Amino acid sequence: MTVRINPSILSADFVNLHDDIETIASADLVHVDVMDNHFVPNLTFGPQMVGRIQDVSPIPLDVHLMIDDPDRWAPGYAELGAYSVTFHAEAAADAVGLARRLRQIGSRAGIALKPGTPVEPYLDLLAEFDQVLVMTVEPGFGGQSFMPETMPKLRLLREAVVRTGLDVWLQVDGGITESTIAFAAESGADTFVAGSSVFSSPDRAAQIDALRSAALA
Ligand code: DX5
Ligand code: ZN
Repeated sequence: MTVRINPSILSADFVNLHDDIETIASADLVHVDVMDNHFVPNLTFGPQMVGRIQDVSPIPLDVHLMIDDPDRWAPGYAELGAYSVTFHAEAAADAVGLARRLRQIGSRAGIALKPGTPVEPYLDLLAEFDQVLVMTVEPGFGGQSFMPETMPKLRLLREAVVRTGLDVWLQVDGGITESTIAFAAESGADTFVAGSSVFSSPDRAAQIDALRSAALA
């Protein structure tokens, strides 16, 4: 089974971001949380910062947009060269049209679902996306507890991916630790965002390995 570990730099030291990104070079992608203080009650950074992160990062970028009006703003992140751009279903006016634009620019296109957003409307649209992100906490902050009640959505997604044979990554984000990752993996996730559990560790490479092993256990 493929397991991708994407550390979230939301829990990194923003003043020493370049050094912190170097410490996670053994991960698969660097998860970049863009927040606009409207879609979520928190604010991080925008395209200028993400462009610089893209310049210096040793691994590709997995951009998670927690912003209003992604139809307007998401293509700009694809144009910066982000490997993957994920926007929220709740915020997009035309999710399929936006995903098509992101792919046309050259990024993988992801759609994210908040814990209370049902997955059913997207099961027949999986061919339009390269990734579905099932939020396992309410978006906005790192360090929250994993919500096991979101796992039935992953099971439905995994069934649909197996049935269709599509190459859609199933990502979880929020509260992923050595104790929760196996349950998420067993429920169908293959791509794991981990913020506080990686960056609170003194040895990030060892923690990335530990998460990878725990997911496969
Ligand atoms: C939350 C962000 C997450 C966050 C996860 O809204 O989307 O990526 O960094 O942090 P942890 O892993 O600490 O729950
Ligand atoms: Zn995120």
